[in-house]
Amino acid sequence: MENKFDILVIGAGPGGYIAAIRAAQLGKKVACVDMWTDDAGKPKPGGTCTNVGCIPSKALLQSSEHFEQANHHFAEHGISVSDVKMDVTKMISRKETVVKQNNEGILFLFKKNKVSFFSGKASFAEKSDAGFKVKVEGKDAAEITAEIVIVATGSDPRPLPNLPFDEKSILSNTGALDIPEVPKKLGIIGAGVIGLELGSVWRRLGADVTILEAAPAFLTAADEAIAKEAKKAFDKQGLKIEVGVKITEAKNDGKSVKIAYDTAGGEKQELTVDKLIVSIGRIPFTSGLNLEAVGVKLDDRGFIEVDENCRTSVQNIWAIGDVVRGPMLAHKAEEEGVAVAERIAGMHAHVDFGTIPSVIYTSPEIAWVGKTEKQLKEEGRKVKSGQFPFMANGRARAMGDITGFAKIIADAETDEVLGGHIIGPMASELISELVTIMEFKGAAEDIARICHAHPTLSEAIKEAALAVDKRTLNL
Ligand code: FAD
Ligand code: NAI
Repeated sequence: MENKFDILVIGAGPGGYIAAIRAAQLGKKVACVDMWTDDAGKPKPGGTCTNVGCIPSKALLQSSEHFEQANHHFAEHGISVSDVKMDVTKMISRKETVVKQNNEGILFLFKKNKVSFFSGKASFAEKSDAGFKVKVEGKDAAEITAEIVIVATGSDPRPLPNLPFDEKSILSNTGALDIPEVPKKLGIIGAGVIGLELGSVWRRLGADVTILEAAPAFLTAADEAIAKEAKKAFDKQGLKIEVGVKITEAKNDGKSVKIAYDTAGGEKQELTVDKLIVSIGRIPFTSGLNLEAVGVKLDDRGFIEVDENCRTSVQNIWAIGDVVRGPMLAHKAEEEGVAVAERIAGMHAHVDFGTIPSVIYTSPEIAWVGKTEKQLKEEGRKVKSGQFPFMANGRARAMGDITGFAKIIADAETDEVLGGHIIGPMASELISELVTIMEFKGAAEDIARICHAHPTLSEAIKEAALAVDKRTLNL
């Protein structure tokens, strides 16, 4: 096989595989190399998202939510079940099946779009007149020459200092998605997205979960009203969250983990747990790429330095996704992948960082787009906001899921929607309407005048828009 390509994509996570497919659609000869394999060496394209991120976490969230419903909510519907048991091994193996379906789906898409896939680890060898020479080591060992390279190598979990992950007692997201039996006591460092989602999974299955968070307040990235409502819901569920803590020591003796910390009030505390998940953010992954061979620069936090269009310091090398600045989200990586492929093909593409939605798949779900009320006020913008509780929404009542509300923030004069914040059932799906309205620079009144099907949860969005103008119909 002649290994000369127009474009080589390194990494087949959501950034890389989507970039490869879009570039192939645009008539380029494309290769994609990825090093993720199972223990038997079988390729597992899809990156963090497919293998140890978005997809497996949502599979476990679904299984554990069914268990929670059977234990605590079926009775309200007149359904009696007794002796509800969770077979953790089966739950994990179902999750693995879901992951495999996605791995295979990506391999199918590569074939369909004529993207040549190489399983192995890529490293830059040199830049020559013909383009970039990249060495692939592994199952599909090869030397590839490409005129253009897109780096999409993703990120890795950040460990606590002096507490390496062993994935048995000290778990990153990888181990946290594979705990063979429900731990009695589970500690989590970091009440961010992973801490809340995976804390919810294991709490629903019976673990006594304590989350220790360094920030002085809970969920500071979200709108304050949403964070307050979320804290109330998690407290009620028994998910213990302590904010403002400082971890002073953590010891792993292989059987249990002891964490010493100072509370927000300066008191010394100790927590002993069977397992500890460390979810304090992620770091860009560039190890082994040999970027020095071609001169690609990193910034002072280790991200590949790029401009607003994902161009690196070297002409014809682009970088996208978690390995570059911006939110570490699969859909952000995908958008950058499409945009870069289109730019390479001479098209104009734009990724609006102001309309990238954030979602936390807990129960209740939390989703937002745009700015929080606090951010807008700090910017000195005159705003008005409207809120509508799911308690007053007919569909939510019929579902028996009435926690939370939808909130819309609009410019006080123009009525343009500047932020949308939802906590409640299916917030992850409902947020799309607010993303769309913001993309079109629409006003709250636009949403209020659109016919929403009845009875749906989306009527809460319409009512929140009406609330901006202080004229809700159902409250
Ligand atoms: P990655 O998905 O990390 O893919 C990079 C790929 O490159 C990997 O397969 C890696 O093996 C490969 N690679 C690296 N170096 C080389 C090399 N030298 N040669 C060959 N291959 C290489 N985001 C969401 O939007 N929604 C969610 O619900 C969500 N849930 C998450 C849950 C968890 C537990 C975690 C950890 C993350 C979650 N994320 C979620 C974040 C999401 O997974 C990442 O933002 C996304 O995967 C980034 O995509 P990427 O393509 O940049 O990198
Ligand atoms: P995160 O950035 O969401 O949260 C990390 C939390 O740890 C923060 O609240 C931070 O204040 C805290 N923290 C940092 N250092 C600490 C310390 N020493 N002690 C105590 N607390 C500390 O990162 P997380 O949860 O690790 O997730 C990583 C990335 O994966 C995120 O960027 C997120 O975007 C992505 N992800 C997205 C999901 C989604 O979209 N639903 C789900 C899971 C992950």
